Amino acid sequence: MYIQIQNVSKFYRKGANKVKALEDVSLDIAANEFVALMGPSGSGKTTLMNLIGGLDTPDTGSILVGGKEMVHGTDRRRAGWRAENIGFIFQFNNLISFLTAEQNVEIPLLLTSLSGAERKNKVKAVLELVGLGDRLNHRPSELSGGQEQRVAIARAIVSDPRILLCDEPTGDLDKESAEAVLTLLRTLKENFNKTILMVTHDREASRVADRSINLNKGQLVVDQAQDRGGET
Ligand SMILES: Nc1ncnc2c1ncn2[C@@H]1O[C@H](COP(=O)(O)OP(=O)(O)OP(=O)(O)O)[C@@H](O)[C@H]1O
Ligand SMILES: [Mg+2]
Repeated sequence: MYIQIQNVSKFYRKGANKVKALEDVSLDIAANEFVALMGPSGSGKTTLMNLIGGLDTPDTGSILVGGKEMVHGTDRRRAGWRAENIGFIFQFNNLISFLTAEQNVEIPLLLTSLSGAERKNKVKAVLELVGLGDRLNHRPSELSGGQEQRVAIARAIVSDPRILLCDEPTGDLDKESAEAVLTLLRTLKENFNKTILMVTHDREASRVADRSINLNKGQLVVDQAQDRGGET
């Protein structure tokens, strides 16, 4: 198993109150698997993603990625690990408004030792991959919502991480743009070997995944393989 979550609990302390966000969650995700994560608002989905992505640490239990316990240590070490292993895609794409598509996608590469020319080539290649080879110099305000989200996906994959964590990547999109984003994620699994965990509220969206899991009040409720609607 590529991602192993073992008996993980997470509490948030808010003054005198203790909010239980995750309770004894155990879950295995295989390499190259595409998993949809569903559940009502407040059920712990984002909390779980943040733990897998190393943005936060569990109170109890352990998370192993590629057989290794998640790096704890300093923020700096965790940030380095994250940059290499994880691509994040959010509901609202968090693109930087005064930078072009090309400049936004280049950001993760600024942390690497690549030369300017090497960075440019990689950026161009991923923007072509997401179908935006002709929009390199557009700023976010000059792109459609679906195009912006595809720039965000390009930014998430440009450093070639093995894991993509997507928190409602289609939540803010019309049906057609959502479809394009889902197709792209499926392609990243099929052709680029990515392991994908995608939070969604949309049953339709979850159908592109290999499997859906459900959280309710911090606990895992179902863990079932699913029929992907006759696709082979
Ligand atoms: N920083 C925090 N401090 C205190 N409580 C928090 C914090 N973050 C989340 N929570 C609480 O933890 C629980 C799980 O939150 P989480 O964000 O994981 O839910 P979610 O499933 O992602 O919900 P949504 O679908 O609305 O995004 C909620 O009850 C929430 O109020
Ligand atoms: Mg959330």
